Amino acid sequence: LAAAAATTGHAGVTSPYRRKLEATADMPFDADVFRVPPGYNAPQQVRPPAVSLIPPICNGFLVSHLVFRLVRIAQVHITLGDQTGTAMTVSWVTASELGNGTVRYGPSPDRMEMSAQGTHTRYDYFNYTSGFIHHCTLRNLKHGVKYYYAMGFGHTVRTFSFTAPPKPGPDVPFKFGLIGDLGQTFDSNSTLSHYEANGGDAVLFVGDLSYADAYPLHDNRRWDSWARFVERSVAYQPWIWTAGNHELDYAPEIGETVPFKPFTRRYRTPYRAAGSTEPLWYSVKVASAHIIVLSSYSSYGKYTPQWTWLSDELARVDRKATPWLIVLMHSPWYNSNNYHYMEGETMRVQFESWLVAAKVDIVLAGHVHSYERSRRFSNVAYNIVNGKATPVRDLDAPVYVTIGDGGNIEGIANNFTEPQPSYSAFREASFGHATLEIKNRTHAYYAWHRNHDGAKATADSVWLTNRHHLPTDDSK
Ligand SMILES: *[C@@H]1O[C@H](CO)[C@@H](O)[C@H](O)[C@H]1NC(C)=O
Ligand SMILES: *[C@@H]1O[C@H](CO)[C@@H](O)[C@H](O)[C@H]1NC(C)=O
Ligand SMILES: *[C@@H]1O[C@H](CO)[C@@H](O)[C@H](O)[C@H]1NC(C)=O
Ligand SMILES: *[C@@H]1O[C@H](CO)[C@@H](O)[C@H](O)[C@H]1NC(C)=O
Ligand SMILES: *[C@@H]1O[C@H](CO)[C@@H](O)[C@H](O)[C@H]1NC(C)=O
Repeated sequence: LAAAAATTGHAGVTSPYRRKLEATADMPFDADVFRVPPGYNAPQQVRPPAVSLIPPICNGFLVSHLVFRLVRIAQVHITLGDQTGTAMTVSWVTASELGNGTVRYGPSPDRMEMSAQGTHTRYDYFNYTSGFIHHCTLRNLKHGVKYYYAMGFGHTVRTFSFTAPPKPGPDVPFKFGLIGDLGQTFDSNSTLSHYEANGGDAVLFVGDLSYADAYPLHDNRRWDSWARFVERSVAYQPWIWTAGNHELDYAPEIGETVPFKPFTRRYRTPYRAAGSTEPLWYSVKVASAHIIVLSSYSSYGKYTPQWTWLSDELARVDRKATPWLIVLMHSPWYNSNNYHYMEGETMRVQFESWLVAAKVDIVLAGHVHSYERSRRFSNVAYNIVNGKATPVRDLDAPVYVTIGDGGNIEGIANNFTEPQPSYSAFREASFGHATLEIKNRTHAYYAWHRNHDGAKATADSVWLTNRHHLPTDDSK
């Protein structure tokens, strides 16, 4: 590609590629990606409700005096259930009835001899009431082993599988998918399809999942449909969740004043295992990577819980055991797009010096609906009066990647600041996803894929060298 070929010398590249402009629209509720899998339990004789009492989102159907209640396992998703992947938390939703909360699992579909009992929750959001949201943590998994798991006993059993992540260690190859701001448009579907074609073992998701809040009253049925849409990937491999602004669902005008209510009821994170007191910031160790997840929308000033936890957490990082140090957040610190310009600045001021001192390899963020990759720069010399407020080349500093280009309903952010700042290596206003392939303790291959290319085409790529084990200049 002409854009990639131009990546020489010191000038950063603003890709001239222009995506085909098409209406950004959410897939309709009856789209194939949102289909609820079939299955129902035996008909139950119940007192027939007055027709007007049947909720508009009708999950049962009335036949004379028999109500067939549908207990269908839907919205299945998994994430790590502990810090290292010997546990996996399985979540799913049954719409109208609780159903059976047991998950059976084992190394083959015929030998699911282990079982775990889940818990469930429901929540109300204005006039929406969620289905039964089940969470069940499968423990005592062996690293690197493929497991089958099933739930829905007594109704319609659905079976899925995942491979427990390899044991963390210094030279354990692993391929991460990097996706942000996905939403549920036709572009979102393209992003997910491209990621599936490229193959990864787990997704680092940098926030903004469903965009249900784009609808009147934050129509929470769009939280349900989003989970049905991504099930085809996240039921089979763990996605590591970061909270974005679209997870806040803070709407005092309709009486909804608990931030992150739908997100935290629906999505679990292994925060307690990471010594955190809140699900919004935590860490996991996967293969050769120590991954720290931060919350842009929780307090992080000095002495706050997140500040205290991050301070302790950075001291716990052992680069000999897990050489790659990766930080996830939603709002980027280095963003040369006029959209959300400098929104990450207060958090940068608070934490950047820590990440540079810790020699973080890569910081991943979303929020801005375009793509950008930085060179290794830092901006930590400023002390109010010395005037040193310009980012400078710094080989101890992370590479910053903004990957908020998953393709949601708000459309592309196509207004970059000019001229392109020196810290910015490559930027383009297209939808896509990236992959990060850790090869060993010294090398990782990073690649960004735009949706309008074939899945295997890379529009921007770079070999990263590890900041602890091989801190060479890897920015070409
Ligand atoms: C919630 O209220 C809105 C606006 O009045 C209405 O359109 C919608 O049908 C209601 N939903 C439910 C589940 O009652
Ligand atoms: C749930 O399913 C499990 C596994 O088949 C079974 O052992 C258990 O008895 C069921 N629980 C209920 C309440 O039906
Ligand atoms: C979404 O993508 C999948 C896989 O590429 C495809 O089968 C499906 O038809 C797409 N759905 C929509 C609504 O575009
Ligand atoms: C781009 O952003 C700048 C700064 O916010 C604004 O002045 C300008 O109008 C924007 N241009 C377009 C085409 O939106
Ligand atoms: C690490 O991986 C890189 C890229 O595949 C390779 O060039 C290098 O030789 C590997 N290092 C070791 C010690 O195997």
